[in-house]
Amino acid sequence: MLAAEARLTVISPEFAPLTRSALVGVAQLIEREPTVAEIESSIIVFIADIDSASARRWADVARMSGVLLNVVDQPALCDFTTPSIVDRGRVTISISTVGAAPVLGRRLRADIEAILPARIGQLADFADRYRDAVKGKIPVAERRLFWERFFDGPIAAQILAGADAGADTHEKMLELINRPNVVERTGVVHIVGAGPGDPELLTIKALRHIQHADVILYDRLVSEGILSLARRDAELLYVGKAKSDHSVPQGDIEARMVSFAREGKTVVRLKGGDPFVFGRGGEELDALRSAGIPAFVTPGVTAATGCAAAAGMALTHRDYAQAVTFVTGHAKGETEPELDWPALAALKNTLVVYMGVTKAETIAAKLIAEGRAASTPVAVIENGTRENQKVVKGALGAISTMIKAGGIKGPAVLVIGEVAALADGETLSGLIAKERLAA
Ligand SMILES: C[S@@+](CC[C@H](N)C(=O)[O-])C[C@H]1O[C@@H](n2cnc3c(N)ncnc32)[C@H](O)[C@@H]1O
Repeated sequence: MLAAEARLTVISPEFAPLTRSALVGVAQLIEREPTVAEIESSIIVFIADIDSASARRWADVARMSGVLLNVVDQPALCDFTTPSIVDRGRVTISISTVGAAPVLGRRLRADIEAILPARIGQLADFADRYRDAVKGKIPVAERRLFWERFFDGPIAAQILAGADAGADTHEKMLELINRPNVVERTGVVHIVGAGPGDPELLTIKALRHIQHADVILYDRLVSEGILSLARRDAELLYVGKAKSDHSVPQGDIEARMVSFAREGKTVVRLKGGDPFVFGRGGEELDALRSAGIPAFVTPGVTAATGCAAAAGMALTHRDYAQAVTFVTGHAKGETEPELDWPALAALKNTLVVYMGVTKAETIAAKLIAEGRAASTPVAVIENGTRENQKVVKGALGAISTMIKAGGIKGPAVLVIGEVAALADGETLSGLIAKERLAA
């Protein structure tokens, strides 16, 4: 009622202290039984929290005065029911079960809240500002299509992404209205982080983009569970490494995104983890921007944080590590990763190595040679957050034995540092004992 700017009077023989403090300053409080005159002079009356005989009596008074009435939890006595409201400025959605199951209504509200863009109200405000201009310029028969294109297009995406403050969106809108058939109808590309595998680790924004996409270009590490969230008619294109281990060249991926966007499509480039952590997301964003394609980035849970949570191991810890460093262990062929080994060994913090399984032995040897103790705890987490997650732990000096004994093939991260001792996982000695038993 307050959100609708009602003038609110709350009448009760007594108020619990918490109720009183919540209402003081926002409503008029009257501490006694209501009078018939008060009921008669109201527009809407809610009766709450009294026994049913008294509720019925006051309900009769209200009804005789023609006042709109709601008796809490007694649908039979109500003239109307109060729906659950999703309130995003001008966009309001109400959900009602006509009093049958208010808790279900509230759950539905939570579900709808989650899928609605936070800035949908701002988008409605923006569209409202141009309604008259659109009416004046675009013939009735074409108006619906105009607005549909607008809500699917780059200007709306920019507003939903929080970038409507600049004059730039207004200029683009005027151009669109004045020359709707001339202005190239470009789509948008969302570079979206899919997280480490568990679909429940997607952000709400990522889920929304996946569900709205016309085309999704995805990598090897994007799980099936996540792809199944796409629209049935969306085009899903795999652009990761093929069985032969040849990836689609980066330039081709970028060119495909540009051409889909130029066809007016809503494109999602779905990448494992976070697109800006060892994901070439930066290069893709640059390529799209230089081709003039509106592009936006949605972050994701990166493998390091996803794996740490799944293994119950903090990456920083007051007692063991004050900092965390992410590096890539990737190196071409026989070469070793190009890293600043003395600096990495000197830091007594947590080191997370992505793509480090094949070069794990070299990495450990380099760190030990530069002064990191061979006894430093290490955890190797494979397929973190997925059903087939595996965690093995041991000491830096024994990392390749651990990887072999654990049958680790990747995708995996190596977590090096004192915190690794806290991981929930199999120890090297446990793995060896198991192997012996099996033999
Ligand atoms: C090309 S990188 C991409 C990283 C991604 N952008 C991120 O933020 O997680 C791929 C590497 O990420 C790590 N990785 C990705 N998903 C993983 C998972 N579920 N469990 C363990 N490591 C994972 C592995 O080290 C894998 O080799």
